Amino acid sequence: MKRVLFILFLAFLILTPLAAATESTREIAGVTVTWKAEGEYVLITMSAKTTGWIAVGIEPENKMKGADMYIGYVDDKGAVVLEDHYGHRTFSHKSDVALGGSSDVEIIQGTESGGETSITFRIPKNSRDVYDKLLEEGKEYTVITAWGEKDNLTARHKGRGSGSLPL
Ligand code: HEM
Repeated sequence: MKRVLFILFLAFLILTPLAAATESTREIAGVTVTWKAEGEYVLITMSAKTTGWIAVGIEPENKMKGADMYIGYVDDKGAVVLEDHYGHRTFSHKSDVALGGSSDVEIIQGTESGGETSITFRIPKNSRDVYDKLLEEGKEYTVITAWGEKDNLTARHKGRGSGSLPL
């Protein structure tokens, strides 16, 4: 009996951190979004078949308004540009910094090859910036995505859509 309890205890110790690192992936309007919690951060990868910009937005309140957005591209020299934005109007967005908030995003890596762009970045679960959403494990979030054909963060999208993703 003691041995069974010990094995169960070991299984609990091994499986608990694995369960915490669960990854979720969704394809939303041509943009594949993968995220997983990592301590105080959330690691996000977004990729799409474009050589232009790609974006994800978390928890919009009306269309694009209220969404905590991350928008970026990989330029012709392979440099990654990624900004922390907020949907300040129904159909437009601005950087958190321009709105008086802070930039709370760390680029991990970005690639553009075979006509596909992929960017991996890390954001805090709680940045304490009013232009970012509070992220909690075990919750399901509405996620919007968009992509465009140009390396330009103010260009209109070619594709956009909405879905949901559990964290
Ligand atoms: C300067 C850049 C952008 C402009 C000018 C813009 C403009 C617009 C406009 C005019 C619409 C309504 C027409 C349509 O459905 O296409 C729209 C819809 C939408 N946009 Fe954007 N957008 C921009 C960037 C973004 C970004 C970065 C995202 C995602 C992170 C996004 C997500 C969406 C979504 C999900 C809709 C559909 C909303 C709905 O009908 O519920 N947009 N946008």
